[in-house]
Order: sequence, then structure tokens, then C-alpha cells
Amino acid sequence: DAAARGEYRHYMLKEIHEQPRAIADTLENRIGLERVYEQAFGHAATDLFADIEAVQIVACGTSYHAGLIGRYWLEGLASLPCTVEVASEFRYRKPRVAPHTLFVTLSQSGETADTLAALAYARELGFAHTLAICNAPESSLVRGSELVLMTQAGPEIGVASTKAFTTQLVALLLLVAVLGRRHALSPEGETHIVQLLRSLPGQIEQVLGLDAAVQAWVPFFANKQHALFLGRGTQYPVAMEGALKLKEISYIHAEAYPAGELKHGPLALVDSDMPVVAVAPNNELLEKLQSNLQEVRARGGELFVFADAQNAIREDAQTHVITVPPTDDLLAPIVYTVLLQLLAYHVAVSKGADIDQPRNLAKSVTVE
Ligand code: G6P
Repeated sequence: DAAARGEYRHYMLKEIHEQPRAIADTLENRIGLERVYEQAFGHAATDLFADIEAVQIVACGTSYHAGLIGRYWLEGLASLPCTVEVASEFRYRKPRVAPHTLFVTLSQSGETADTLAALAYARELGFAHTLAICNAPESSLVRGSELVLMTQAGPEIGVASTKAFTTQLVALLLLVAVLGRRHALSPEGETHIVQLLRSLPGQIEQVLGLDAAVQAWVPFFANKQHALFLGRGTQYPVAMEGALKLKEISYIHAEAYPAGELKHGPLALVDSDMPVVAVAPNNELLEKLQSNLQEVRARGGELFVFADAQNAIREDAQTHVITVPPTDDLLAPIVYTVLLQLLAYHVAVSKGADIDQPRNLAKSVTVE
């Protein structure tokens, strides 16, 4: 066990640090200088993608959060209608399936019972084709899907998913490219995605270098009962993932909210006992997010902001800021997630929690 963890105290920390490599491996042989190779999805990909007009994503847990981010990309870059749902709900609904809809499952293990059941149900419902984005090559999900894109994260041991999530996001960007080129994505747009993806492992290395700054925030969280995570746009699912990481391993109750919804409820809870974490890259929603953060400050809340170097969020008595190197809007969800993983990890370590095997949770939930 100690040998497998190498220099790291826990598998989770090791897996957080493996992300640049896991992402590079997920890209290897899948991208050229300007294009994504669609054979990465299987030999039948070209035929099967030809008539796709919409996407339904289904997953559980952390994989579901990846799907939520994927929707922003599929709609925003490829102009494809996309819906995302947790498998345990999808499998008991009576969805109306639009013609030519691709059914996409996301799963680290490929053995999550609800996701497998949703896939079986999708066949009955008449989806055009099925694609699994998965990290386990011999899994039931892979065997049961027409098309497969393997994330190359390598074995993930920590129950709280880290590198499987970021490689799922990379896989989703590859999907956006191959579907998008048949719809609204221009060749230049695809080249832009490919070039950004190439720069991603290096960018992750850079944010891993912020580890000490993240650790310095631990005392503000360790004795708290609750925490609120805020984001807007693609950063809302990132906030959801950050809250999930914190509750999974530190047992602090954490909730994520799209910052624009604060005024519809959670503002009533804001006080100095509930740290508020915000993910604030430099995007078109930044100004709106800043005014949401002002609402928190005005109510005596304490803010912990991961902010782009170029934006104007200043530190003050109530506002702590970690400055994140500038990144493209497209990569920001992946880059900022790594910081939230580190935050959850260090808070949980300070509480003496069982990081790799949190109480009551399983790595793969193979029963309903
Ligand atoms: C469990 C794990 C999570 C994971 C979820 C979905 O809850 O603890 O880390 O995100 O299952 O698992 P999957 O293997 O389908 O991605």
C-alpha cells in the first residue's frame, strides 16, 4: 500500500497530482495538431455520429457533475441540444426521446448500478446510439455501449473521484469537437479546442503549485459545520463538485449554489460561521458574480475566492483571495476544480478523516 502511494500520504493526493499525466494520456493518439481523431470513439464513430442532432447525458455523483459542464460546451460550442440527468432519476422517468439523440453515459467504474440500468432503459426508449465515456476497460458499461471513449486516468483508488473527473471533462471536449464539426463548430473553433487541450497538463501543474496557499485556508474551515460554494455558468457545476468533495471526505455540510440564486434562499444562512467559497475566473459573468459576492459581504459572510489574476477582487478583512494564473474560459472548469480538490483534501486531513475511504461511501455503487 505504502509503495503504491509512493511519496504521497494518501491515494487521493497522489491522484490529484497525477492529473497532468492522466490528461496527457487521455489526449494521446486522440488529437492531431488541429483536429480530434474521431476513431478514438470506435471504428463505427463516423457512421454513428452522422445523424446525431441532440445529446442526453446520464451519470451519478462526480461523473454527473462532469456531464453538467459538458452540457454548457455541447450547447455553447456545438449548438447541440443537451440534457443531463442523474441515472437514478432518469431510469424511473418516462422521457420523450427526440429523434437522433445520442445517449451518453459517464462513469469512472463502468459498474454503477443506476447508470447501467439507465443504459438498458435507453435502449428500450429508442435512443439513436449509445456512447460510454469510462475509465474501466472491461466494465459492463463499456461492453454494453455501441461507442466507447476511454479516459486514461489509470486506476483510481481514493473513493472521492479526482483524476477520473478531469479526464471525463477532457473526453467531453473531444466529443464536442467531433459532434460540433457536424454542427456549429468551425474548423478554427476545433483547432482552438485542440490547442487549449495541449496546454492543459502544463496549466494543471501550475495550479498544483498553489497547494501551500490553499493549505493556509484550512484553519478557516476545519471547525466549521457548513460551507457554501458559489459559481456561475460552467463554474456552477464546478462549485457543486467542490461541495461534494468537501462533504465526502471532511464531513462538513457543503452546498453549492449558482451565485444568482443566493437571494432566493441561502442569503438567509450567511454569517461568519459559514465560509463561502467562490470560483471566479475571468469570464462574461464575472461582474455579476462580484455583485453576488458583495451581497455575501454585506451580510457579514467570509469569502474565500479563487480568482483570475486579471480580475479585480481585492482582499479585505472578510475576503480571502487565491490568485489563479489566467486560463481560457473553456479550460477554467478543469483548472479551478483542481483547487477545490486540494481544499477539500487539506481540510479533511486536518480533521483526521479517513481520506481514501470515507465512512458510509463506496468507490463503486453496484447495487441500487
Ligand atoms: C460513487 C463514488 C463517486 C462516483 C460515483 C459514480 O458514489 O464514491 O466518487 O462519482 O459513485 O461512480 P462512477 O464509477 O459511475 O463514475
